[in-house]
Amino acid sequence: MINVLFAALSERWTTYEAPLRTALDAAGIDTHLAQDIAPAEVDYIVYAPNSTLQDFTPYTRAKAVLNLWAGVEKITGNETLKIPLARMVDPGLTTGMVEWVTGHVMRYHLGMDAHIVNPSHAWQPSTPPLAREREVVILGLGALGTACARALLGLGFRVTGWSRSAKDVDGVTCLHGDDGLAEALARAEIAVTLLPDTPATTNILNAGTLAMMPRGAFLINPGRGPLIDDDELIAALNAGQIAHATLDVFRIEPLPQDHPFWAHPQVTVTPHIAAETRAITASETIVENIRRGEAGEPFINLVDRDLGY
Ligand code: NDP
Ligand code: OXD
Repeated sequence: MINVLFAALSERWTTYEAPLRTALDAAGIDTHLAQDIAPAEVDYIVYAPNSTLQDFTPYTRAKAVLNLWAGVEKITGNETLKIPLARMVDPGLTTGMVEWVTGHVMRYHLGMDAHIVNPSHAWQPSTPPLAREREVVILGLGALGTACARALLGLGFRVTGWSRSAKDVDGVTCLHGDDGLAEALARAEIAVTLLPDTPATTNILNAGTLAMMPRGAFLINPGRGPLIDDDELIAALNAGQIAHATLDVFRIEPLPQDHPFWAHPQVTVTPHIAAETRAITASETIVENIRRGEAGEPFINLVDRDLGY
């Protein structure tokens, strides 16, 4: 029998208890799963970074922390955590992100706003280009960025992706590193940021890099708030360099009521809803790592604590 501690907010327990038990049973793993287990007896910690558990020191026999979130910026710096940390790569979450990104790309690509909100009843036909005439750039070609790139490619868009290390994704122009960023941004009629929040990505979109984009470009950020310098984005919007931005994530969440993004006519704010872990598929991912831990196999989705993602 192994002991699995569920360390997340109580409402998450309601969502996850049954799917986790189902996945553990399906894997044939005899488990005591609970929200309260003596720390020295815990084998695995299913974790959300907003949990009250912040000191991992007493968890002396735990083999891994299995994060329920894709983003790990709130836990990578925790110096009491000495055991492997796996982040969430969940097919359900990935599907949600693909749908959200595709929807917002299509809004910009088709110029939908002009017809959805048309108080003066203006009859101004202007046919949008085809997807094959439009370049979409995804900053971050990881689990989510690659899935979005493939979906947009499937719709016919020209897709460029940018990552830290070199990548090869069929049909996608893959660029990487500092030199690749300028080239990627120069192509970005629509840019989607799916980078993690790390010291290397903070303010990666700033006055200088926003100026590298074609004038009148669109920006979609479902990654993390600190990827963007808020003031410099507002200046780029005001100057027309960026035509419009859709932002799902922010430095402070909920976005404070007095933040200028709320009132800005060229900004759409969504409340961190681009994608969410889906309990059934996420539980299967968690249990696969427990199975691996028990079988002495390497964990999947491990976080590189030095890189911060
Ligand atoms: P991954 O770790 O799979 O991918 C991250 C990508 O970013 C990789 O391609 C990586 O490059 C690239 N990258 C990291 N650092 C740099 C850098 N310094 N320069 C260039 N590229 C870099 O993450 P996911 O795709 O799973 O998720 C991405 C982010 O999406 C999460 O970190 C989270 O913040 C956010 N998210 C938001 C949600 C929402 O609802 N809004 C939901 C879920 C996630 P390489 O491939 O070379 O390693
Ligand atoms: C995540 C998120 O990191 O929801 O999973 O943003």
